[in-house]
Amino acid sequence: MMARSLGGGCAPLFRSTLSLLALCAALFMQSAAAEDGYELWLRYHPLPAEQRALYAPATSQLVMPTPSPTLVAAKDELLRGLNGLLSQRPASVERVSASGLIVGTPQSNPQIARLDVGLKGLAAQGYVIRHRRVDDQTVVVIAANDDVGVLYGVFHFLRLLQTQQPLGNLNVTESSRIQLRMLNHWDNLDRTVERGYSGFSLWDWHKLPDYLDPRYTDYARANASIGINATVLTNVNANATSLTAPYLEKAAALAKVFRPYGIRVFLTARFSAPVEIGGLKTADPADPGVQQWWKDKAAEVYKYIPDFGGFLVKANSEGQPGPQDYGRTHADGANMLADAVKPFGGIVIWRAFVYSHEQPDDRAKQAYDEFVPLDGKFRDNVLVQVKNGAIDFQPREPFHPLFGAMPKTPLAMEFQITKEYLGFATHLVYLGAFYEEVLRSDTYRPRQGSTVAKVLDGSVNNYAHTAIAGVANIGTDRNWSGAQFEQANWYAFGRLAWNPMLSSKDIAEEWVRMTFSNDPQFVKPVVAMMMKSHEAVVDYMTPLGLHHVMGRGHHYGPGPWVEGGPRADWTSVYYHRADAQGIGFNRTKTGSNAVAQYAPPVAAQFGDLKRVPEQFLLWFHHVPWDYRTQSGRILWDELVYRYTRGVDTVREMEGTWQGLAPFVDAERYQQVAAFLKIQENEAKWWRDASIAYFQTFSKRPLPAGFAPPEHSLDYYKSLEFPYAPGHH
Ligand code: GCU
Repeated sequence: MMARSLGGGCAPLFRSTLSLLALCAALFMQSAAAEDGYELWLRYHPLPAEQRALYAPATSQLVMPTPSPTLVAAKDELLRGLNGLLSQRPASVERVSASGLIVGTPQSNPQIARLDVGLKGLAAQGYVIRHRRVDDQTVVVIAANDDVGVLYGVFHFLRLLQTQQPLGNLNVTESSRIQLRMLNHWDNLDRTVERGYSGFSLWDWHKLPDYLDPRYTDYARANASIGINATVLTNVNANATSLTAPYLEKAAALAKVFRPYGIRVFLTARFSAPVEIGGLKTADPADPGVQQWWKDKAAEVYKYIPDFGGFLVKANSEGQPGPQDYGRTHADGANMLADAVKPFGGIVIWRAFVYSHEQPDDRAKQAYDEFVPLDGKFRDNVLVQVKNGAIDFQPREPFHPLFGAMPKTPLAMEFQITKEYLGFATHLVYLGAFYEEVLRSDTYRPRQGSTVAKVLDGSVNNYAHTAIAGVANIGTDRNWSGAQFEQANWYAFGRLAWNPMLSSKDIAEEWVRMTFSNDPQFVKPVVAMMMKSHEAVVDYMTPLGLHHVMGRGHHYGPGPWVEGGPRADWTSVYYHRADAQGIGFNRTKTGSNAVAQYAPPVAAQFGDLKRVPEQFLLWFHHVPWDYRTQSGRILWDELVYRYTRGVDTVREMEGTWQGLAPFVDAERYQQVAAFLKIQENEAKWWRDASIAYFQTFSKRPLPAGFAPPEHSLDYYKSLEFPYAPGHH
């Protein structure tokens, strides 16, 4: 994004021109070589000469009037991209006299109004990129019905160049069936980030609204480049202060920066805000005074932010206040807020990640049990946001049984991009592969083929609203996400939110090409490494469907021994249930019967020890240690095998990366290499600690050829991490 400018800052320091030149040259060489990842995938470095020569004619002239801030942003981006990639600035003209680009909407660009480029019926924010003959010239037309579509089309066109695609006969038509593609920031007003591993919050509340950090614009550009069009600025564990006038003014300043990029701002609403900042005695949604307070608050918010998206709410979960505190339902609470924002076109996103003080027999069942009876009871401007799985962003989870089970209520997906349970920023885990696995899962509701993706995009139940949210992994680190490869998860999230049918492998390839290099000798091994990385982390942390066995509270490192404390369902022993006979959570008919929450064909499969996909074996079944798994190994041996395989895969990844130094600048190369080393050490720690612990139940030797844990179980249990990041 930013070329680092040396400016004239060297001058006053040096009398001698020679030493000035020498120093500036040295600095320049260093800055040209070193990259810190700030540019993300919008890294418009010059393409090889032969590629530039191929693209140059297509971009020699540009017809692009810019009557709106969004079109100004789109043109800036186009020029920035072409300038960087091709070292070429197209001549801005009113009519082409050579080949070139014609960009805009029928309203902004009269030439597009005259061309038939297939804009009829294109959904909002969709776009086309096509070749046409205009004024006897072959041109590339980037067109949309609205300005944001044009911006997206420009980013798509630049991506074609960045990834060195042939431009012959362009015929791109793109639109998203997911209306809201949103980031959820778990950012607190003191700038700490819950489950954040990339520094502090980008939002510098203290200096807002007067100082607008240029990073806000780069954040907006990065999001727009992948189609993200909404952002929730504040943590779901909400602070009512964010709804007071001074903070609304600050949020409005951010909204103003994001607006040209098509990004709408949302805020979290603390349910008890009427008491905390409104001076009321209650927050009961049935109380007319409370209802009026929210109506007034909504009107105030819209005065500051006219295109405010709405509220995201976590209620009656993990101690957050909610309507159940007053004997009301989630629908009562959501509807009160929905009525407040309705006159302004706002929506309410109500989270289904609930679990109350009364502990159910199986926490996995609670969201379904509480929400299915409410289907049809929500206002038409409410979405219910459901985590990808029923427990909590585990390295792998079966899809949440709510998907497909609420045909009358638009359901939004909540993925976690930040890697709370997956080793934080330093473990290289490409989540695109996991998102794809979830999106393609078949809910069988109401029939076969009703995948999670099709539930989300509304095609199964004709939802009026559609949304996919991701808990952001973005912070103040120069590389935004805490690690170079974490950027891929932000990127993949956005691309899949735009089109949940995309292949995560294709997305990985796109990202690698834009972020690092187009050289096939680099692209192929790196994509292969990314594609096996998710399976690796599952192997070394939670093989065969184990889950929630991380360190208490911060979730860093292994903690399968965690027990006791305030709630059984905040311990590991609750989830793995290891005993002398075997291991795993029996969620079949003979156990908690959570399996019955799935459609009958899915329930039948998951509930059958012989048919359950092995990756979910211990999620649904308590299995004897000597049970014969598909490999022919008994369960205990298979666990040891998989833990070990996970560590081995990380070692392979390190080996792959070591061979790639010639393709990467030193700074990024070294950071990735160092992080892979951390990952290797921690994978081994996970393996060894887990084996040491579970062996106390299985009482079996390790299979031949497998190394015993390096340390004693007591040693692993003694490790403490009071300052692990992200935990507040
Ligand atoms: C997890 C996470 C919390 C978060 C919660 C939520 O439990 O550990 O930090 O607040 O999910 O999604 O609400």
